This record gives sequence, structure tokens and C-alpha cells, in this order.
Amino acid sequence: MGEIKTRILQVDPEKPEEKVIDMAAAIIKKGGLVAFPTETVYGLGADGLNEEAVFKIFSVKGRSEKNPLILHVSSWEQASSFFLSFPSEVLMLVDRFWPGPLTIVGYKNHMVPDVVSGGTPKVGVRMPAHQVALSLIKKCGKPLAAPSANLSGRPSPTTAEHVKKDLEGKIEAILDAGPTGIGIESTVLDITERPFKVLRPGAVTLEQLADTLGEEVYSASGQDRREDAVHYRPRVRIVDIPWGGDIGTKIMEDIEAGRRVGCVLINDRELPQGLAVKVLITQGTSEYGVRLYEIMHKADELGLDILYMELPEEKGLGRTLADRIRKAAGK
Ligand code: TXA
Ligand code: MG
Repeated sequence: MGEIKTRILQVDPEKPEEKVIDMAAAIIKKGGLVAFPTETVYGLGADGLNEEAVFKIFSVKGRSEKNPLILHVSSWEQASSFFLSFPSEVLMLVDRFWPGPLTIVGYKNHMVPDVVSGGTPKVGVRMPAHQVALSLIKKCGKPLAAPSANLSGRPSPTTAEHVKKDLEGKIEAILDAGPTGIGIESTVLDITERPFKVLRPGAVTLEQLADTLGEEVYSASGQDRREDAVHYRPRVRIVDIPWGGDIGTKIMEDIEAGRRVGCVLINDRELPQGLAVKVLITQGTSEYGVRLYEIMHKADELGLDILYMELPEEKGLGRTLADRIRKAAGK
């Protein structure tokens, strides 16, 4: 595929200009690709019912065709029209978390092309809590198949700049509505068996799901497929630090060896002189979530050799962040 001109379309995150949404929807309807903001990360959207358009997503990202895509919808009615069936408890989840960062994986019906579901009998569906995403889906009158708008294996994009870095020249347009609000991807929940199973931890926590359902959910994130395990990796080498763990000596050795070292801390501590960057997270896990991918992208831009990242306590959103940091560290 030759290079194409990628249009960057500025759009108001709260009151998206109709003209801009019309332009983006026209591209999607013609089978093109448009990156758009959601409340979690930027997505790379295609008409989810157009097989040829969906195929382009895989080739542009360099993604395995076995890795299924999420269908983004603008209502529960639309979502439920793609499921064969669903247990009634799902309605409690939809009530509490939609629109929002929860992807529901259920058995698909014939409406959903196999290319979307990666050849599996299941489809993941979510209704994003972002006016630009919702307006675009409504204007298209179709669900949008959309993975995160990064090259496969790279950290997810939380700004239009990040998308541009990976996909400029390969897609028709990027809707730029500024940085995303949450910064970390949706929770992917399989509802086809009891207990429900979290396939990927995300912005909605296990505790919130259990609290809403009145029963525990099962966490299967340790058993990720291989493709998923190579996700989220920046160029810089990431090393995870246990919560409150000591790293002074290691950093000293790195600096003496002439490496450019960065450090992301939740618990502040004295560190050796000569650190290239130090980021202190003071506002808890939600701040860490908002900044996580931004920091990884920045570390690459700065050409750091190594980035130490302190793991949060593994509860709530901290569990999700620890999952992403470990994956970035190649674990
Ligand atoms: O927040 C998000 O979820 C973002 C925004 C753009 O919505 N999307 C996103 O998509 O992160 P992606 O493709 O980068 O990650 C989706 C994850 C993948 O690990 C995929 O394997 C899993 O969800 N997934 C999607 N559909 C599935 C299905 N039918 N069965 C099992 N896993 C599924
Ligand atoms: Mg992704």
C-alpha cells in the first residue's frame, strides 16, 4: 500500500463540530480508516460491517488477524443486536458502566463478520464515553471496529500526536480532540460462562464488577494470548520496581555505565545524581493511569535507555497498571 495523505481534523471534545464529524463519517462509509478519541485511548476505526475495511486495520497495524477487534456502538440496543444471547446480569453492568470503559464479550450472531471476531465465535462490544466517538458512530449508522490506534506491539496512543507518529501516511484521517481522559484501555469481560471472566484488566476494576454483580469475577489476564503479551512495549527498556522497592544501587550502576536513565515513582526517595528524568506520581493510581502511556511515549522521544517504573499496590486500578507495566517490561 502506498503512502496516503493523512488529514488531521481538529474537533471539540465536548461539542464535536458537525462538519468535522460529517467528513470523518464520509471516509468511514467509503471503507476508509479514521483514528478517533475515546475516553480510554485513541482507536483506529473502520466500518465494522465492511470486511474489506476491517482487513485494512490489520494490515495497517501489522496485527495478527486472529486477534479480535472491539465493535464500538452508541447504545445498548445496537450492541445487543450483535449477540446471539446474553445473561440478564449483563444489563446491570451496562446500567452502571456504559457508556464507559467496559468491553463485553459474548457469542456473536451472523451480523458480525468473522474478520472482526478473529475467526472466533465471540465478539467484544463497547459504548465509549466520548462525544466525538459517539457522534461518529451515530453519523455512520454502523458499529465501528476499532483497536487502539498504534502499530501492533507499541504503547497505546493517548494523544493525536502519538497516533500520527505510528500511522501517518497509512490512514485517511485523525480526529484530534486532545488527550484522552482515562489513558488506559477498557476492561474486557467474557460473559459466555460463569463466573464471568476478565480477559484483560482495564479501567473498570475487578472490585467494581464484583460489587455490581454481587459475585466474584474470574481474572484470566495471566493467561493472555501471545499477541497480547507483546503489546504495550516502548523502545526504551522498562524495568518494574516493586512498590517501595530499593533501586539506588542499580541506578548508580546504570549511570556509571553511561546509560540515560528515567524513573517513575509513587513513593519518593533519594536517588543518585545524574538521572535524566524523574516523574513523581502524587495523585494516586488514576493519575498514573492518565500518564502511563504518555510517559512511555516521552521516554522514547527522549531516547532514554532504561526507564524504572514503580508498580502500584495491586488492588483496583493498580492491578491494571501493574499488568501494563509488566507487559511493557516484557514479562
Ligand atoms: O479502551 C479500549 O478498549 C480501546 C479503545 C479504542 O476502545 N481499544 C482497544 O482495542 O484497546 P485493542 O484491539 O487494542 O485491544 C482489545 C483487546 C485485545 O486484547 C483483544 O484480544 C481483546 O480485547 N478482545 C477483543 N475482542 C475479543 C473477543 N471477541 N474475544 C476475546 N478477546 C477479545
Ligand atoms: Mg491495543
